[in-house]
Amino acid sequence: MTDWIAEERRYLFQNYGRQPVVIERGQGTRVWDTEGKEYLDFVGGLAVNVLGHAHPVVAEAVARQAAQLIHTSNLYYTRPMIELAKLLVEHSCLDRVFFCNSGTEAIETAIKLARRWGHDEKNGAFEVVSMNDGFHGRTTGALAATGTARYREPFEPLAPGFKHVPWNDLEAVRSATGLRTVAVLLEPIQGEGGVNMPAPGYLKGIREWCTQNNILLILDEIQTGIGRTGTLFAYEQEGIEPDIMCLAKGLAGGVPIGAVLAREDLAAHLVPGDHGTTFGANPLATATGLATLKYILDEDIPARAVAASERLVARLRSIEDRLPLVNEVRGRGMLLAIGLTQDSAADVVAACRERGLLVNNVRPNAVRLMPPLNVTDAEIDQACDILEQALLAVASPPK
Ligand SMILES: Cc1ncc(COP(=O)(O)O)c(C=O)c1O
Repeated sequence: MTDWIAEERRYLFQNYGRQPVVIERGQGTRVWDTEGKEYLDFVGGLAVNVLGHAHPVVAEAVARQAAQLIHTSNLYYTRPMIELAKLLVEHSCLDRVFFCNSGTEAIETAIKLARRWGHDEKNGAFEVVSMNDGFHGRTTGALAATGTARYREPFEPLAPGFKHVPWNDLEAVRSATGLRTVAVLLEPIQGEGGVNMPAPGYLKGIREWCTQNNILLILDEIQTGIGRTGTLFAYEQEGIEPDIMCLAKGLAGGVPIGAVLAREDLAAHLVPGDHGTTFGANPLATATGLATLKYILDEDIPARAVAASERLVARLRSIEDRLPLVNEVRGRGMLLAIGLTQDSAADVVAACRERGLLVNNVRPNAVRLMPPLNVTDAEIDQACDILEQALLAVASPPK
């Protein structure tokens, strides 16, 4: 039998710390490896698989569109991109959409749009303020915005004009901004940073500061958007509206896509020749996005995420009460993490995996859970049973 892990080690860049599982197929919240072992998937492709694996709505949209028209380039109009843009505009506070292929690309686009506006309207203002522990992607612009020095430093010099300030520190945002500041860029909840929640009023305070000082607020809803936190977009729960918003991950149910939404007056600053992408807005991704988003809206999937979250959080809190290794349950909707009293998240992930549950060690001392938004109560219960056994095994390993 082929040793796929050995083959991967031979042929691919070794830039990922992959879990030793070769996943072959999935159905709903479950996946199976090449040896037929079943896992409950509470990683969900890193918050991508909003409807789980092989959901008929997603699978049928891919098959239908693939048989009809996969790609044309942006030299032409196609219906799916227009229909998906319309649906996004109708269900958000923003007016226009640019499609690309990933979260990183959406961030790059948002930065360019903000700088183009700064060039045209704000005496060439270009500086972007973003947050420590924020994550925005790996290209030289998105990485420059990313707030983890360890990711940035080996690749410097990156795009200039970025400042990082501590998360949840409104005063630090105020002091970091000046005449050259064009935008504040942040996630409503920091995902890769460890599922870090905004303090009450923090996002509202940033919104007000930006408005008062003619600075754009760019929200990175790449991880939090598309229902994950219980509303279609996380900003809705904060009583604020962004000027620019980045989406990706769950938007097309697993097919690669990115999108930037912006206010009408801002979008007008990008004119033909300023920005583009060959694959962006392609019919395959946008038709799948359209089918996924329609289903999420028609079936009120964000409400299901709220109900599922209540059950999952209650179970996690009960684990926290009983196991000294767990000292925190944080997050919102289907973006949750448990904090540990020691750096044993990798051990917990391994112990869960052995028992048939996939979770993610987002920080050395935090385990993140991002199941599909339509996860069932029974799956939540089963996952929590496994998680508890794994935590017990890690807390008191066999002698
Ligand atoms: C908040 C946020 N922004 C941007 C990105 C980058 O997206 P992508 O990996 O699709 O380029 C991620 C990916 O995890 C993310 O979580």
